[in-house]
Amino acid sequence: MPLSADSFRRVAELARRETAMVYEPGKEYLVEARLLPLARAAGCADVDAYLPRIFSDAVERQRALDALTINETSWFRDNSPYQAFTDVVLPALLEARTATRQISIWSAACSSGQEAYSLAMLLDQHLPSGWTARITATDVSTQMVERVRNGRYSQVEMNRGLPATQLVKHFTRVGAEWEISSKLREMVHPRQMNLAAPFPPLPRFDLVLVRNVLIYFDVETKRDILRRVHGVTAPDGYLMLGSAETSLEIEQYWQRETAGRVQLLRPQSTSRSTAPPIPATALTGA
Ligand SMILES: C[S@@+](CC[C@H](N)C(=O)[O-])C[C@H]1O[C@@H](n2cnc3c(N)ncnc32)[C@H](O)[C@@H]1O
Repeated sequence: MPLSADSFRRVAELARRETAMVYEPGKEYLVEARLLPLARAAGCADVDAYLPRIFSDAVERQRALDALTINETSWFRDNSPYQAFTDVVLPALLEARTATRQISIWSAACSSGQEAYSLAMLLDQHLPSGWTARITATDVSTQMVERVRNGRYSQVEMNRGLPATQLVKHFTRVGAEWEISSKLREMVHPRQMNLAAPFPPLPRFDLVLVRNVLIYFDVETKRDILRRVHGVTAPDGYLMLGSAETSLEIEQYWQRETAGRVQLLRPQSTSRSTAPPIPATALTGA
């Protein structure tokens, strides 16, 4: 039986409440495609029959929410942000952090970790000796966080944007998969975190990447996340959004700088604790 309208509404409400992801009517096929394998694995004939399990069993609910997230990612995705990192962001931070010799990065909504590990590869290449870097990699999906922790990728995933030189340098083959080196894994600290919920205590970050995730949220949620990210970014730090997210109007918290084809956002010096929220109507991009 195809997914009923009522089941779709209940799943969409759950996804919005738990992750802020918006499933508009018309996405019934997507919800069904994502949940049917879980329904079958749980011994249910269809998704309608599976729904009571989601609502009564927290483990099954997390499994369903994980399945509903869209985890599309690749190594060095879009390339130019990584070029800007090497050419502009990292040199500026190396100059500004000589006292501590520490760099702190947050890959928020990291999916299976390609974003965090791509940065780790660049840091391994360009960070002077005596410096340390810590990359916090978070995602709402526990399954994705586990994947970052395991640091193992299929051949298909390896083929998506990873230069051969980096493969040779940082990966070893384990059966049908490729495992990332412990050196890079030590730099990356995965943890489960919902961007749409109040942040747990976080360090001050020099660079935050919130790429290709705001597109799934409504205007109010985007506004709130960008305000809270401002609060955990160093005053001379940077924020990078995804290429489809650059039209967001964020002037109240962030000012734009360009680095080649990339937009870098720098925190406005507005008082962190008292800055009023951006009006919802201002955030119409993406
Ligand atoms: C399309 S991927 C983007 C991955 C990576 N940032 C990139 O640009 O390649 C979006 C990720 O956002 C995560 N996500 C969705 N809602 C989230 C939320 N409320 N909090 C944290 N992560 C979320 C999904 O689980 C998914 O892994």
